Amino acid sequence: AGRGRRAARIVLGTAAVGAAYLGWRMYRNRNPAEQLPYDPSKKTLVLLGTGWGSTTVLKNLDTDNFNVVVVSPRNYFLFTPLLPSCTVGTIENRSIMEPVRQLMRHKSREVTFYEAECTGVDPARKELTLVRRTDSDAQVAAGGRLGAAAAAAPEPPAEDVVKLGYDYLVVGVGGEVNSFNTPGVEEHACFLKEMPDARKIRRRLMDAIERASFDDISEEERDRLLHMVVVGGGPTGIEYAGELHDFLVEDLSQWYPALARRVRITLVEALPNVLPAFDKKLIDYTQSTFSENKISILTQTMVKEVRARELVVQGADGARRELPYGVVVWATGIKASPLVDRIRERFPLEQTNRRGLLVDEYLRVKGARDIWALGDCALSGYAPLAQVASQQAKWLSRALNAAAAAAAASDGDDGADLFSRIEQHARPFKYSSQGSLAYIGSDKAIADLPLFNRNISAGGIATFWFWKSAYLNELFSLRNTTLVASDWIKRFLFGRDISRE
Ligand code: NAI
Repeated sequence: AGRGRRAARIVLGTAAVGAAYLGWRMYRNRNPAEQLPYDPSKKTLVLLGTGWGSTTVLKNLDTDNFNVVVVSPRNYFLFTPLLPSCTVGTIENRSIMEPVRQLMRHKSREVTFYEAECTGVDPARKELTLVRRTDSDAQVAAGGRLGAAAAAAPEPPAEDVVKLGYDYLVVGVGGEVNSFNTPGVEEHACFLKEMPDARKIRRRLMDAIERASFDDISEEERDRLLHMVVVGGGPTGIEYAGELHDFLVEDLSQWYPALARRVRITLVEALPNVLPAFDKKLIDYTQSTFSENKISILTQTMVKEVRARELVVQGADGARRELPYGVVVWATGIKASPLVDRIRERFPLEQTNRRGLLVDEYLRVKGARDIWALGDCALSGYAPLAQVASQQAKWLSRALNAAAAAAAASDGDDGADLFSRIEQHARPFKYSSQGSLAYIGSDKAIADLPLFNRNISAGGIATFWFWKSAYLNELFSLRNTTLVASDWIKRFLFGRDISRE
């Protein structure tokens, strides 16, 4: 009995310490400490972007040593791994968004943020051209794609074009959806990269289903409306198809029993199998789970054109046919953004790869001075993964902190030559893979994990719980973690919301 009481005391004690810690974090979140004011004598470090790379730099950078300015057309960080869950309402949109000003407010020195799109870099004058885009409607109309919004918008009025000087520049602007110039993609397909994309998919799904519920339409038209197609069998396409299946089985079947039986999900992939970057066992597991879940996979099939109501696809035999669809989601990977192309043009001798900015092992843009690049826009020999961007950002902020602190300590030199001195303060960047995870639907996930120098691959329900806890743990803030956990509980208790926003 004594041992039992002791165990209970330990459990209660641990719970009390945990609750006190959580309470303290919540209090700190609402009541950040006083900040040091802006200091014009510090060198200006501009961070472009608010994705995995730049936001992680901001989080880890010692702002005492710099005058930090963040520039991005998006004033929040988006936890992209859970974006497919937002397309069907498993998770609510704002649960995976974290305002960048929240992060800024917790830095030791004041940080400046401009909601603007950087459209040009002049390395000779160390000056950026920014376009103020307060017209977020244009961005939403362009599916949230930032470069695309700029391209679609008319020439900005002169008063919205602003110049900003920099001493150091960190480019973390990510990439853009690659349509491979396939006709009709921009007009008719939904992408899955930014939050407005997820919102658009959710609306289109409900539109198609409500339209299919009219009695006066033909059976052929009903089947078309209820055919959901995903193009691209990478992790994005697979995760979206899995979420869509769950929505169909767990929710639509309750509210639209007759229609739900007729919904078909098809995934089209140009290569012989899906998820080429994953272990063969996991590819087979995913394909057999999809087949159990009645998701058709058309491999060795290439989408050649997207029309308003049908796709034109080409099989391995070269024959083309039409595939009528209700909603099509295009998830075929990414390409460089227009800004990256413009930066490359400044260094034509060194920047010879159209896929992004070539960087050295210290993430310095080849040919440039005082410019670093990281994440999907940088070509560093690693895949375009959130994990890579985040590790690069942690490495870069540590290196910058160390170099700037050393420079500040050496007789008043505030780090003028940080770019070359960074080598003295950091070892070259090396990525260490923590493994890949993907949700495949019906409470199953797959994982490729490096463990004791071996690669372990696992798939199933236990992996799904591992996936859940890994993502909860990785979310950017306590607020996001709480919101996502409560969304999962809400879905379990009440199901997903089918209202069309
Ligand atoms: P991806 O590049 O991994 O896959 C795109 C797929 O689309 C390719 O398999 C390609 O063969 C196919 N494709 C291209 N054009 C096509 C066409 N016209 N018709 C049919 N199929 C076509 O793209 P994704 O999934 O957007 O991922 C981008 C990057 O982000 C990758 O590096 C991926 O590993 C990473 N990622 C990782 C996740 C995870 O680990 N959970 C989640 C999401 C993305």
